[in-house]
Amino acid sequence: MLLKDFISGSVRGLEPLYGREEAKSVVLMLCEACLGTKSYTHIVNPEYSIDISRQAELDAAMKRLETGEPVQYVLGYADFAGYRFRVTPSVLIPRPETEQLFRIAGESVARRLRMKSAFGRSGVKVLDLCTGSGCLAWSLALSYPDARVLAADISQEALDVASGQNFKSEMKKNGAVRPEFTRADVLDTDAAGLSEPMARWGGFDVLVSNPPYVRDSEKALMRKNVCDFEPGIALFVPDADPLVFYRAIALWAGKALVDGGAGFVEINEAFGPETRQVFREEGFPDAELVKDFCGKNRFVRFTK
Ligand SMILES: C[S@@+](CC[C@H](N)C(=O)[O-])C[C@H]1O[C@@H](n2cnc3c(N)ncnc32)[C@H](O)[C@@H]1O
Repeated sequence: MLLKDFISGSVRGLEPLYGREEAKSVVLMLCEACLGTKSYTHIVNPEYSIDISRQAELDAAMKRLETGEPVQYVLGYADFAGYRFRVTPSVLIPRPETEQLFRIAGESVARRLRMKSAFGRSGVKVLDLCTGSGCLAWSLALSYPDARVLAADISQEALDVASGQNFKSEMKKNGAVRPEFTRADVLDTDAAGLSEPMARWGGFDVLVSNPPYVRDSEKALMRKNVCDFEPGIALFVPDADPLVFYRAIALWAGKALVDGGAGFVEINEAFGPETRQVFREEGFPDAELVKDFCGKNRFVRFTK
């Protein structure tokens, strides 16, 4: 089959789910992963013919995509902050907003590393709560090789994915140190699961977290490929208590951060001022909102 025919037929198949533009980018991602083609191969080479040995693989992938399964689960990876992460249905697919969280927190890590080195000291310690695929933990560890990262999640399946990410060659190249992953319930603020490794690590300079923050009632507004395939435990909080994770994170931040340490959390845009207030009331009077690239209240940052 000609590549251009496969692409046009597949885009038509996915259009009802995704709309034309997104359907096209999903199909092009699939072709790039399976065939090694570029987004323009079918245009500059309209006679490009798909190797018969790859057709079954493409057809099987298309069947999964047509059920609404996200392309990242079908391919088994998602790109985040310039790194390729393995993803399975046990972990949330990293989002572009979270990449912005990585950049904001990363600037703070970089500044602290510079300050420490000016005083002849080294090492900045980072705590990542609700780590999922480990996208924040690993990206910070790989981008700032002098940083040390402790990351926690309640889901053993997610921790298996996070701790199994293969960044051996990146670590070898820049001397980065693999994050430590630990199982803990962030909502149990007395839990030894987190207190024990935290005590062993000593004070943290930076805390990052992208906890579950979508209200159960918002499920109805979400796309099928999110609700049916991504883990509910990673997404949803009860309508009756949508800020439950932020109260817990604020408590952990109070215990974990050194004086002058900073926290960065991703939030539900519907609760910007309320989430900021949680941190102000828990001992971070300078807590402030930061907007995402769409102009929505998406993060709170605070210092101890
Ligand atoms: C929104 S996902 C974020 C994953 C990843 N940090 C990211 O940004 O892509 C939230 C994560 O919180 C974890 N989680 C849910 N409840 C938790 C709890 N009580 N304690 C610790 N982690 C929890 C889920 O397993 C999930 O991995």
